[in-house]
Amino acid sequence: MPPEPIGLAVFGAGRIGGVHAANAATLPGARLVGIADLDRPAAERQVRKHGGRVDTIPSFLADERVHAVVIATPTESHAELITRAAAAGKHTFCEKPISLDIPATRAAMAAAKRAGIILQVGFQRRFDDAFLQARRSVESGALGSPRFMRLVGRDHRVPPLAYLKTSGGQFKDQMIHEFDLASWLFEPARVVEVYATGSAIVDPALGEFGDADTTIAALRFDTGALGVIDGSREAVYGYDVRAELVGSKGMIVVGHEHVVNGKLLDATSATPELESFAERFEHAYRAELGGFLEAVSRGERPAVGGSDALEALRLASAATRSFQRGRPVKLSEIADG
Ligand SMILES: NC(=O)c1ccc[n+]([C@@H]2O[C@H](COP(=O)([O-])OP(=O)(O)OC[C@H]3O[C@@H](n4cnc5c(N)ncnc54)[C@H](O)[C@@H]3O)[C@@H](O)[C@H]2O)c1
Repeated sequence: MPPEPIGLAVFGAGRIGGVHAANAATLPGARLVGIADLDRPAAERQVRKHGGRVDTIPSFLADERVHAVVIATPTESHAELITRAAAAGKHTFCEKPISLDIPATRAAMAAAKRAGIILQVGFQRRFDDAFLQARRSVESGALGSPRFMRLVGRDHRVPPLAYLKTSGGQFKDQMIHEFDLASWLFEPARVVEVYATGSAIVDPALGEFGDADTTIAALRFDTGALGVIDGSREAVYGYDVRAELVGSKGMIVVGHEHVVNGKLLDATSATPELESFAERFEHAYRAELGGFLEAVSRGERPAVGGSDALEALRLASAATRSFQRGRPVKLSEIADG
């Protein structure tokens, strides 16, 4: 007899919750038990599309048919929900970041460890085919000794100002994905220093609450390798995530298929597949939830765990501090935020 499907409840029926609900409903080995959202009509809309029932978080946590939960609520609720899911013995897939705060991240990780649940964090780029190939070229030695990485992370459209005000800033909210890539792609090399600067030139209103929308972060690794990340809250030509890794034996790029020598990319270049993360990483979101299900069914460590979320947050915290203080920040300065 085939093993029983893993029952999943999705918490949060917004932009990313909808993506996870669709995958939970269709991935082999999974069964979508239902969806909870404070905004009940939002959960009802997703249930109509993908099945399962609408219910509350406490009810799903008490339900034996729920083996694991997917946390896709706003960031400020993640750490507490991980702790509650762990106490209920539910394996947990949590969207990035676990928290904007290092002590809260550590506390959620400790709760998961104490309960013996599997905790995976939503850094879906690690499941993208091209990023995986880049990582493998480092791991196998094909790239040679890593020397330099360039990461580009530009959103197509600026999120609403109300969201940005509580987002934790561009480094922790948006560029946390690039900081995770920086930690992962050159492993076992580790980032030891960050210098970051930024401007509010897409929307000067961001500057009024100390945030930026156009930023760079220069990274130094303990091996002497260097990295540069540039992030933007708006790219009129579409969602743009790229990478270039340079080593002693060559170079590998990711995401350059839309770039044409000498051609201006403008608003007319923003085809539907360049709309946002949901289109660009559609396969990666499916693969990451599939990876989580596999980790749960085998009782193995997930590919991306709490310590990866903590490391990305430490880099983002160093970048935020560097931007605020106008000086390079060593990672050894970042203990608790
Ligand atoms: N990995 C990625 O690429 C990616 C992409 C987008 C968002 N995210 C992350 O996912 C999270 C959600 O982002 P989003 O863009 O989907 O937000 P969203 O605002 O579109 O959706 C959040 C939903 O959660 C509901 N909600 C709020 N508090 C709740 C609670 N306590 N209990 C139950 N439901 C609650 C809201 O009503 C809303 O429907 C954020 O942490 C964000 O950083 C990750």
